[in-house]
Amino acid sequence: MSSVAAFGPGRVNLIGEHTDYNDGLCLPFAIARGVTVTAEALDAGRVEARAADLDEEDAFAAASPPRGAEGWRAFVHGIVSELGARGQPVAGARLRIAGDVPLGSGLSSSAALSTALALALLALADEPEGDRRALARLCSRVENDWVGAQTGLLDQLAALFGRAGHALRLDCRDLSIAEVPLDLKGWTLAVAPSGHEHTHAASGYNERRAECRAACAALGIASLRDAPQDAPDRLPPPLDRRVRHVLTENARVDAAVSALHDGDLPALGELIDASHASLRDDYEVSVDAVERTVARLKAAGAAGARIMGGGFGGSVLALFAPDAQPPEDAMVVEPAAAARLI
Ligand code: GLA
Repeated sequence: MSSVAAFGPGRVNLIGEHTDYNDGLCLPFAIARGVTVTAEALDAGRVEARAADLDEEDAFAAASPPRGAEGWRAFVHGIVSELGARGQPVAGARLRIAGDVPLGSGLSSSAALSTALALALLALADEPEGDRRALARLCSRVENDWVGAQTGLLDQLAALFGRAGHALRLDCRDLSIAEVPLDLKGWTLAVAPSGHEHTHAASGYNERRAECRAACAALGIASLRDAPQDAPDRLPPPLDRRVRHVLTENARVDAAVSALHDGDLPALGELIDASHASLRDDYEVSVDAVERTVARLKAAGAAGARIMGGGFGGSVLALFAPDAQPPEDAMVVEPAAAARLI
Protein backbone atom coordinates (compact mmCIF):
# COMPACT_ATOMS: atom_id res chain seq x y z
CA MET A 1 0.00 0.00 0.00
CA SER A 2 1.24 3.52 -0.59
CA SER A 3 -0.88 5.15 2.10
CA VAL A 4 -2.84 3.80 5.07
CA ALA A 5 -4.41 5.00 8.32
CA ALA A 6 -5.02 3.19 11.58
CA PHE A 7 -6.82 4.09 14.79
CA GLY A 8 -5.91 2.87 18.27
CA PRO A 9 -8.40 3.54 21.09
CA GLY A 10 -7.70 4.67 24.61
CA ARG A 11 -9.24 2.62 27.40
CA VAL A 12 -11.12 2.84 30.63
CA ASN A 13 -10.60 0.19 33.28
CA LEU A 14 -13.82 -0.36 35.19
CA ILE A 15 -12.04 -2.23 37.95
CA GLY A 16 -8.99 -4.46 38.43
CA GLU A 17 -6.04 -2.10 38.85
CA HIS A 18 -2.41 -3.16 39.33
CA THR A 19 -3.48 -6.74 38.86
CA ASP A 20 -2.41 -7.31 35.25
CA TYR A 21 1.30 -7.73 35.96
CA ASN A 22 0.38 -10.00 38.86
CA ASP A 23 -1.33 -12.52 36.54
CA GLY A 24 -4.64 -11.20 37.83
CA LEU A 25 -8.03 -9.98 36.60
CA CYS A 26 -9.10 -6.69 35.01
CA LEU A 27 -12.31 -5.33 33.46
CA PRO A 28 -11.43 -2.68 30.86
CA PHE A 29 -13.11 -1.39 27.72
CA ALA A 30 -11.82 0.52 24.71
CA ILE A 31 -13.23 4.05 24.24
CA ALA A 32 -14.08 6.13 21.18
CA ARG A 33 -11.18 8.50 21.74
CA GLY A 34 -7.72 7.48 20.67
CA VAL A 35 -4.81 8.04 18.33
CA THR A 36 -4.83 8.02 14.52
CA VAL A 37 -1.64 7.25 12.60
CA THR A 38 -1.40 7.81 8.85
CA ALA A 39 1.52 6.21 7.06
CA GLU A 40 2.85 6.78 3.56
CA ALA A 41 5.60 4.83 1.86
CA LEU A 42 8.92 6.62 1.87
CA ASP A 43 12.00 5.57 -0.09
CA ALA A 44 15.54 5.23 1.15
CA GLY A 45 14.72 3.34 4.34
CA ARG A 46 13.86 6.44 6.34
CA VAL A 47 11.14 6.93 8.89
CA GLU A 48 9.91 10.47 9.27
CA ALA A 49 7.31 11.07 11.95
CA ARG A 50 5.32 14.06 13.01
CA ALA A 51 3.28 14.35 16.21
CA ALA A 52 0.72 16.87 15.02
CA ASP A 53 -0.74 17.72 18.44
CA LEU A 54 2.68 18.43 19.93
CA ASP A 55 4.09 20.04 16.77
CA GLU A 56 7.17 17.84 17.05
CA GLU A 57 9.09 15.82 14.46
CA ASP A 58 11.49 12.93 14.30
CA ALA A 59 13.50 11.10 11.61
CA PHE A 60 15.68 7.99 11.71
CA ALA A 61 16.90 5.02 9.65
CA ALA A 62 14.20 2.33 9.61
CA ALA A 63 16.77 -0.46 9.94
CA SER A 64 18.30 0.94 13.13
CA PRO A 65 15.92 3.00 15.28
CA PRO A 66 18.00 4.77 17.92
CA ARG A 67 17.71 3.80 21.59
CA GLY A 68 17.29 6.33 24.37
CA ALA A 69 14.54 8.52 22.93
CA GLU A 70 11.77 9.77 25.22
CA GLY A 71 8.04 10.34 24.97
CA TRP A 72 6.22 9.55 21.72
CA ARG A 73 9.49 9.07 19.81
CA ALA A 74 10.40 6.08 21.98
CA PHE A 75 7.15 4.38 20.90
CA VAL A 76 7.86 4.98 17.21
CA HIS A 77 11.44 3.71 17.49
CA GLY A 78 10.33 0.71 19.52
CA ILE A 79 7.47 -0.35 17.24
CA VAL A 80 9.65 -0.08 14.12
CA SER A 81 12.39 -2.09 15.81
CA GLU A 82 10.11 -4.79 17.26
CA LEU A 83 8.30 -5.28 13.94
CA GLY A 84 11.69 -5.77 12.29
CA ALA A 85 12.70 -8.22 15.00
CA ARG A 86 9.68 -10.42 14.26
CA GLY A 87 10.45 -10.45 10.56
CA GLN A 88 8.16 -7.66 9.41
CA PRO A 89 10.62 -4.85 8.72
CA VAL A 90 9.52 -1.32 7.93
CA ALA A 91 10.95 -0.31 4.55
CA GLY A 92 10.42 3.41 5.05
CA ALA A 93 7.49 5.50 6.15
CA ARG A 94 6.25 9.00 6.66
CA LEU A 95 4.00 9.00 9.72
CA ARG A 96 1.54 11.51 11.02
CA ILE A 97 0.25 11.02 14.53
CA ALA A 98 -2.77 12.83 15.96
CA GLY A 99 -5.06 12.02 18.84
CA ASP A 100 -7.81 13.15 21.14
CA VAL A 101 -7.02 11.11 24.25
CA PRO A 102 -5.23 13.31 26.78
CA LEU A 103 -1.60 12.32 27.49
CA GLY A 104 -0.73 11.10 30.98
CA SER A 105 -4.38 11.00 31.96
CA GLY A 106 -4.75 7.32 32.84
CA LEU A 107 -6.68 6.64 29.62
CA SER A 108 -3.71 4.91 28.02
CA SER A 109 -2.76 7.25 25.25
CA SER A 110 0.34 5.02 25.10
CA ALA A 111 -1.48 1.83 24.02
CA ALA A 112 -3.62 3.92 21.66
CA LEU A 113 -0.40 5.14 20.05
CA SER A 114 1.45 1.83 19.96
CA THR A 115 -1.46 -0.18 18.54
CA ALA A 116 -2.21 2.45 15.87
CA LEU A 117 1.47 2.59 14.90
CA ALA A 118 1.74 -1.19 14.67
CA LEU A 119 -1.41 -1.62 12.57
CA ALA A 120 -0.50 1.25 10.24
CA LEU A 121 3.07 0.04 9.64
CA LEU A 122 1.97 -3.56 9.09
CA ALA A 123 -0.67 -2.46 6.57
CA LEU A 124 1.80 -0.19 4.79
CA ALA A 125 4.10 -3.18 4.34
CA ASP A 126 1.20 -5.43 3.26
CA GLU A 127 2.02 -7.64 6.23
CA PRO A 128 -0.67 -9.58 8.16
CA GLU A 129 -1.29 -8.32 11.70
CA GLY A 130 -1.37 -11.93 12.93
CA ASP A 131 -2.56 -12.95 16.36
CA ARG A 132 -3.70 -9.93 18.37
CA ARG A 133 -2.40 -11.33 21.66
CA ALA A 134 1.05 -11.49 20.08
CA LEU A 135 0.62 -7.93 18.86
CA ALA A 136 -0.36 -6.85 22.39
CA ARG A 137 2.83 -8.44 23.69
CA LEU A 138 4.87 -6.64 21.04
CA CYS A 139 3.35 -3.27 22.00
CA SER A 140 3.94 -4.08 25.67
CA ARG A 141 7.60 -4.92 25.00
CA VAL A 142 7.97 -1.50 23.43
CA GLU A 143 6.65 0.12 26.58
CA ASN A 144 8.89 -2.05 28.80
CA ASP A 145 12.11 -1.98 26.80
CA TRP A 146 11.96 1.29 24.87
CA VAL A 147 9.90 3.59 27.06
CA GLY A 148 11.08 2.24 30.41
CA ALA A 149 7.72 1.54 32.04
CA GLN A 150 7.32 -2.00 33.39
CA THR A 151 3.63 -2.04 32.52
CA GLY A 152 1.50 -5.13 31.97
CA LEU A 153 -0.88 -6.08 29.16
CA LEU A 154 -4.11 -4.43 30.34
CA ASP A 155 -3.99 -1.43 28.02
CA GLN A 156 -2.84 -3.20 24.87
CA LEU A 157 -5.38 -6.03 25.24
CA ALA A 158 -8.18 -3.52 25.86
CA ALA A 159 -7.17 -1.52 22.78
CA LEU A 160 -6.85 -4.59 20.55
CA PHE A 161 -9.90 -6.55 21.75
CA GLY A 162 -12.41 -3.83 22.71
CA ARG A 163 -15.98 -4.20 21.52
CA ALA A 164 -18.85 -1.70 21.54
CA GLY A 165 -21.31 -2.35 24.36
CA HIS A 166 -18.96 -4.66 26.25
CA ALA A 167 -16.30 -4.63 28.91
CA LEU A 168 -13.61 -7.32 28.77
CA ARG A 169 -12.86 -9.60 31.68
CA LEU A 170 -9.16 -10.22 31.19
CA ASP A 171 -7.46 -13.06 32.94
CA CYS A 172 -3.83 -12.05 32.68
CA ARG A 173 -2.59 -15.50 33.68
CA ASP A 174 -3.82 -17.33 30.57
CA LEU A 175 -4.76 -14.20 28.56
CA SER A 176 -8.33 -15.40 28.21
CA ILE A 177 -10.80 -12.65 27.40
CA ALA A 178 -14.52 -12.81 28.20
CA GLU A 179 -16.81 -10.14 26.78
CA VAL A 180 -19.14 -8.83 29.50
CA PRO A 181 -22.19 -6.86 28.28
CA LEU A 182 -22.03 -3.40 29.85
CA ASP A 183 -25.68 -2.57 30.31
CA LEU A 184 -25.70 0.42 32.66
CA LYS A 185 -29.50 0.85 32.70
CA GLY A 186 -29.34 4.62 32.35
CA TRP A 187 -26.39 5.03 34.72
CA THR A 188 -23.31 6.83 33.40
CA LEU A 189 -19.58 6.30 33.63
CA ALA A 190 -17.49 9.46 33.42
CA VAL A 191 -13.81 10.26 33.71
CA ALA A 192 -12.55 13.49 35.28
CA PRO A 193 -8.96 14.76 35.10
CA SER A 194 -7.13 15.21 38.40
CA GLY A 195 -4.93 17.85 36.78
CA HIS A 196 -1.87 15.89 37.87
CA GLU A 197 -0.35 14.20 34.81
CA HIS A 198 2.11 11.36 35.02
CA THR A 199 4.35 8.99 33.11
CA HIS A 200 4.72 5.42 34.29
CA ALA A 201 8.45 5.46 33.57
CA ALA A 202 8.91 8.29 36.07
CA SER A 203 6.24 7.56 38.69
CA GLY A 204 6.32 4.99 41.50
CA TYR A 205 4.86 2.40 39.10
CA ASN A 206 8.08 0.45 38.61
CA GLU A 207 8.65 0.48 42.38
CA ARG A 208 5.25 -1.15 42.91
CA ARG A 209 6.18 -3.88 40.44
CA ALA A 210 9.42 -4.46 42.30
CA GLU A 211 7.51 -4.73 45.59
CA CYS A 212 5.23 -7.37 44.08
CA ARG A 213 8.28 -9.32 42.92
CA ALA A 214 9.75 -9.06 46.41
CA ALA A 215 6.49 -10.33 47.91
CA CYS A 216 6.50 -13.31 45.52
CA ALA A 217 10.09 -14.11 46.49
CA ALA A 218 9.22 -13.96 50.19
CA LEU A 219 6.18 -16.20 49.69
CA GLY A 220 8.02 -18.60 47.37
CA ILE A 221 5.48 -18.23 44.56
CA ALA A 222 5.80 -17.29 40.90
CA SER A 223 3.06 -14.67 40.84
CA LEU A 224 0.67 -12.99 43.26
CA ARG A 225 -2.20 -14.82 41.57
CA ASP A 226 -0.96 -17.80 43.58
CA ALA A 227 -0.84 -15.89 46.87
CA PRO A 228 -2.92 -17.55 49.62
CA GLN A 229 -5.56 -15.45 51.40
CA ASP A 230 -3.41 -15.26 54.54
CA ALA A 231 -0.34 -14.05 52.62
CA PRO A 232 -0.59 -10.49 54.03
CA ASP A 233 -0.17 -11.92 57.56
CA ARG A 234 3.12 -13.48 56.53
CA LEU A 235 4.74 -10.39 55.04
CA PRO A 236 6.36 -7.26 56.50
CA PRO A 237 4.99 -3.79 55.64
CA PRO A 238 4.52 -2.45 53.02
CA LEU A 239 4.48 -5.80 51.18
CA ASP A 240 1.53 -7.00 53.28
CA ARG A 241 -0.55 -4.05 52.10
CA ARG A 242 0.49 -4.46 48.45
CA VAL A 243 -0.52 -8.13 48.43
CA ARG A 244 -3.80 -7.40 50.23
CA HIS A 245 -4.67 -4.96 47.46
CA VAL A 246 -3.99 -7.50 44.74
CA LEU A 247 -5.99 -10.25 46.48
CA THR A 248 -8.99 -8.05 47.20
CA GLU A 249 -8.90 -6.33 43.80
CA ASN A 250 -9.01 -9.66 41.93
CA ALA A 251 -12.07 -10.59 44.00
CA ARG A 252 -13.67 -7.22 43.21
CA VAL A 253 -13.35 -7.84 39.47
CA ASP A 254 -15.48 -10.95 39.66
CA ALA A 255 -17.88 -9.25 42.05
CA ALA A 256 -18.23 -6.45 39.46
CA VAL A 257 -18.91 -8.97 36.69
CA SER A 258 -21.66 -10.48 38.88
CA ALA A 259 -23.08 -7.04 39.68
CA LEU A 260 -23.27 -6.23 35.96
CA HIS A 261 -24.86 -9.58 35.25
CA ASP A 262 -27.48 -8.91 37.94
CA GLY A 263 -28.01 -5.29 36.84
CA ASP A 264 -27.02 -4.22 40.36
CA LEU A 265 -25.48 -0.81 39.64
CA PRO A 266 -25.41 0.37 43.28
CA ALA A 267 -23.24 -2.69 44.07
CA LEU A 268 -20.92 -1.71 41.21
CA GLY A 269 -20.61 1.77 42.72
CA GLU A 270 -19.65 0.27 46.09
CA LEU A 271 -17.00 -1.91 44.44
CA ILE A 272 -15.54 1.12 42.67
CA ASP A 273 -15.32 2.95 46.01
CA ALA A 274 -13.73 -0.09 47.65
CA SER A 275 -11.19 -0.33 44.84
CA HIS A 276 -10.24 3.30 45.40
CA ALA A 277 -9.82 2.83 49.14
CA SER A 278 -7.56 -0.14 48.49
CA LEU A 279 -5.49 1.71 45.87
CA ARG A 280 -5.15 4.66 48.25
CA ASP A 281 -4.47 2.86 51.52
CA ASP A 282 -2.95 -0.51 50.59
CA TYR A 283 -1.34 0.08 47.22
CA GLU A 284 -0.59 3.77 47.97
CA VAL A 285 -0.78 5.07 44.42
CA SER A 286 -3.05 8.06 45.03
CA VAL A 287 -1.97 11.69 45.33
CA ASP A 288 -3.63 14.81 46.73
CA ALA A 289 -4.95 16.03 43.39
CA VAL A 290 -6.63 12.65 42.85
CA GLU A 291 -8.15 12.66 46.34
CA ARG A 292 -9.59 16.13 45.73
CA THR A 293 -11.07 14.91 42.42
CA VAL A 294 -12.59 11.83 44.05
CA ALA A 295 -14.14 14.02 46.76
CA ARG A 296 -15.49 16.43 44.14
CA LEU A 297 -17.10 13.61 42.15
CA LYS A 298 -18.63 12.06 45.26
CA ALA A 299 -19.99 15.48 46.25
CA ALA A 300 -21.54 15.71 42.75
CA GLY A 301 -23.44 12.51 43.56
CA ALA A 302 -21.18 9.75 42.20
CA ALA A 303 -22.20 6.30 43.45
CA GLY A 304 -18.53 5.32 43.20
CA ALA A 305 -15.29 7.03 42.21
CA ARG A 306 -11.76 5.74 41.92
CA ILE A 307 -8.31 6.49 40.61
CA MET A 308 -7.78 4.77 37.29
CA GLY A 309 -4.73 3.41 35.50
CA GLY A 310 -1.19 3.38 36.79
CA GLY A 311 -1.80 5.93 39.54
CA PHE A 312 0.26 8.81 40.95
CA GLY A 313 -2.06 11.20 39.09
CA GLY A 314 -4.16 10.80 35.98
CA SER A 315 -7.93 10.53 35.84
CA VAL A 316 -10.71 9.48 38.16
CA LEU A 317 -13.50 7.18 37.00
CA ALA A 318 -16.96 7.73 38.48
CA LEU A 319 -20.34 6.04 38.21
CA PHE A 320 -23.48 8.18 38.31
CA ALA A 321 -27.09 7.12 38.83
CA PRO A 322 -29.63 8.33 36.24
CA ASP A 323 -30.70 11.26 38.43
CA ALA A 324 -27.14 12.51 39.06
CA GLN A 325 -25.17 14.75 36.71
CA PRO A 326 -21.41 14.34 36.08
CA PRO A 327 -19.54 17.63 36.52
CA GLU A 328 -18.78 19.66 33.39
CA ASP A 329 -15.11 18.70 33.14
CA ALA A 330 -15.92 14.98 33.24
CA MET A 331 -16.01 13.04 29.99
CA VAL A 332 -18.78 10.45 29.65
CA VAL A 333 -17.27 7.15 28.46
CA GLU A 334 -18.71 4.00 26.95
CA PRO A 335 -17.27 0.89 25.32
CA ALA A 336 -16.20 1.31 21.70
CA ALA A 337 -14.51 -0.78 19.04
CA ALA A 338 -10.95 -2.10 18.98
CA ALA A 339 -7.91 -0.78 17.12
CA ARG A 340 -8.38 -0.97 13.36
CA LEU A 341 -7.49 0.31 9.93
CA ILE A 342 -9.64 3.25 8.89
C1 GLA B 1 -1.07 1.22 33.61
C2 GLA B 1 -0.34 0.06 32.94
C3 GLA B 1 -1.18 -1.21 32.97
C4 GLA B 1 -1.71 -1.50 34.37
C5 GLA B 1 -2.30 -0.25 35.01
C6 GLA B 1 -2.67 -0.47 36.44
O1 GLA B 1 -2.19 1.59 32.88
O2 GLA B 1 -0.03 0.39 31.60
O3 GLA B 1 -0.42 -2.29 32.46
O4 GLA B 1 -0.71 -2.06 35.17
O5 GLA B 1 -1.43 0.86 34.92
O6 GLA B 1 -3.73 -1.33 36.54
